[in-house]
Amino acid sequence: MKVTEKKFGEHAFLYSLTNNNGVTLEATNLGARIVNLYVPTAVGRKNIVLGFDSEKEYVEKDLYFGATIGRVAGRIKNGQFSIDKKNYQVFVDPNTHHCLHGGPHSFEEKIWETAIKENDEELSVVFTHTSPANENGFPGTITVSVTYSLSNQNEWKITYQASTNESTLFNPTNHVYFNLTGDPTKTVADHQLLIDADKFVVVDSDTNATGEKRSVANTPFDFRTIKKVNEVFQTNYEQNVLVDGLDHPFILNHKTKETPQAVLVSPESDITVNVYTDRDTVVIFTAQFGNSGPEVHGNQVVHHGGITFETQTSPGAVEFEGFGDIILRPGKDFYSQTVYALLLSDDEALL
Ligand code: GAL
Repeated sequence: MKVTEKKFGEHAFLYSLTNNNGVTLEATNLGARIVNLYVPTAVGRKNIVLGFDSEKEYVEKDLYFGATIGRVAGRIKNGQFSIDKKNYQVFVDPNTHHCLHGGPHSFEEKIWETAIKENDEELSVVFTHTSPANENGFPGTITVSVTYSLSNQNEWKITYQASTNESTLFNPTNHVYFNLTGDPTKTVADHQLLIDADKFVVVDSDTNATGEKRSVANTPFDFRTIKKVNEVFQTNYEQNVLVDGLDHPFILNHKTKETPQAVLVSPESDITVNVYTDRDTVVIFTAQFGNSGPEVHGNQVVHHGGITFETQTSPGAVEFEGFGDIILRPGKDFYSQTVYALLLSDDEALL
């Protein structure tokens, strides 16, 4: 196992973690982001996540690629909520009038403090950040740590911890885009997807949660048995047409501890990502970029050129009963883990 560190731009660093199987995870302290995830395959090394080559590119392109998202993942309708009967209005996007991913210049743009940790089984980079009270209108000063670990079992594990000095909202996630072809000019249509969810949250034309949890049964959103993502793209199902793909919270069943909550398999079936999380929801977004996808490593990302697994509490939690509780209170620290476990075919042969 090996860790290296190099400059990524004016302020940021790039950390490379390589395990004993030749898997390399690269992360930057700009937004506590995953930048690259290289895996060995029969046809050479593939980079299976979307990311850019420098701090400058991340700043100029102003996107959430691979970033830690917070304080609150997803949309807060009209940027309004209340805690203990006190009403808050947080910063909203001037175009949509909703608060997306914690509002402008949030976690994804911050330079996080960094520490490296290493033991016999895994390498870790620990990112920490303090968000002051009133940032984007959210109460409470919160201290957040996000640890990325890469193990010799080929698992990328994210551990979130947070504490606050005043009751506030906290619902972080990670905005990694996978494309298991390693080629952002190819769509994820031929990837196979499993989601262990009996229900999804219906969204409106602003992609806000409507409050309706709908059974996936008899809809194209039934991924309880693995099938191609394309089966959604090809339908006239109103929830697909509305957002042109998936941009939906799926309520996870968590029937057993052993089985993954979601699975993504490459078109060649040489790479599988098993997603395990203790969160109750995963938001899956299939990169509806149209013709304005950014260039990554010199190639423009096509429409549907990536897929996210944003583990979290469902958006709508501040509005609707039964959507979960995202209030973080003093003395009750936040702790959560999500694991993206990679299964590489011919693992043995590739070593
Ligand atoms: C997703 C969100 C999408 C889009 C994207 C950012 O999490 O659900 O609607 O805003 O982030 O490009």
